[in-house]
Amino acid sequence: MNGPSVSYSPGLEGVIAGKTAISTVGKKGKGLNYRGYSIYDLAEQAAFEEVAHLLIHGRLPATGELDAYRARLKGLRGLPVALKRVLEQLPATAHPMDVLRTACSALGTMEPEGEGRDQYAIADRLVASFPSMLLYWHHFHAGGRAVDTETDEESLAGHFLFLLHGSRPVELHRRMLDSSLILYAEHEFNASTFSARVTASTLPDFYAAVTSAIGTLRGPLHGGANEEAMKLITRFRSPEEAERGLLAMLARKEKIMGFGHRVYKEADPRSRVIKEWSRRLGEAAGDMTLFAVSERIEEVMLREKRLYPNLDFYSASAYHLAGIPTPMFTPVFVFARIAGWSAHIIEQRADNRIFRPVADYVGPEPMAFVPLGERG
Ligand code: COA
Repeated sequence: MNGPSVSYSPGLEGVIAGKTAISTVGKKGKGLNYRGYSIYDLAEQAAFEEVAHLLIHGRLPATGELDAYRARLKGLRGLPVALKRVLEQLPATAHPMDVLRTACSALGTMEPEGEGRDQYAIADRLVASFPSMLLYWHHFHAGGRAVDTETDEESLAGHFLFLLHGSRPVELHRRMLDSSLILYAEHEFNASTFSARVTASTLPDFYAAVTSAIGTLRGPLHGGANEEAMKLITRFRSPEEAERGLLAMLARKEKIMGFGHRVYKEADPRSRVIKEWSRRLGEAAGDMTLFAVSERIEEVMLREKRLYPNLDFYSASAYHLAGIPTPMFTPVFVFARIAGWSAHIIEQRADNRIFRPVADYVGPEPMAFVPLGERG
């Protein structure tokens, strides 16, 4: 072969890299759907566990099945002692995403894929136990406590908030988080999902693909944007200050995290749902400062750059108002996206071909090797 057979597309923009039956993103006339269901119907009417079942097990749970699935996930929240020891050894200064990446990999050595543990079992295990991994590590280092990671909260959202705060979650916060987990659960061939599929295509164990995905999600151009958006909005005390600050940042050609999207050139359909939650939590807290600052930033970005907020932008204020510490924002994305990653790993394995693209070579022309003693 002399060179690439298709034209070069930086960042693979517009390249169809595979087939999927899991979701549609930005497709004309379809919008954002998970296995055919509109994201709006799911975010308003379903629970995260129903969506996780839909993505991982291929269909919505039938009446009666949801309780059984919830009970199953609830029973998978405990951590092996060996994993707790690993979490205790990780530095208190580690980034929570690095903790999850390491814990996922470590669990793979303790509960390996194989006989008696198939890919569906591992997917459910990871859905159920990521919050436990994060909060065991967090409480051990922040408060010197080895917490029990099992709670009687029915939902993953409630379980996480209860473990985090040590008290029953405020229902409005729990519902916001549940809805947010649904919005974050799946998004076609985004960078972390693609990374999971690339790894899965070489046929390693399930955990290897998830570990790759966590590493990819961590960056500020992807999942890490929600943490960066939080840092941005808390810099300003009023909408006027935000407007001045934003204009100065744009004049310096800085990137504004939480805005723009590779696929959505108009509004991200998920943004209006999480924006509404952010407004409701602000109203309930009696403090609309963050919301007002965020809205002004949205206005400036639209006016100056024709850029729209993506899901990460209003997630920042919503999470903050629910008392979630900023370094845990991207890990919450993991709690949700593990459902989508799992669905894609399973789909990739079912019709696999190893990913192996080609590069456009831009290096030196072939030249003679000069032995060491003859080099200048
Ligand atoms: N702030 C300021 N300018 C932005 C921007 C942002 N958030 N996002 C895109 N732009 C500008 C780029 O600078 C570029 O301008 P130019 O043509 O003058 O150079 C143009 O818009 C196109 O952006 P580009 O970076 O090529 O788009 P992309 O498809 O490669 O990247 C993102 C998509 C999402 C990575 C990008 O929009 C971004 O970095 N956003 C901030 C991070 C973020 O919120 N990520 C979460 C995504 S869900």
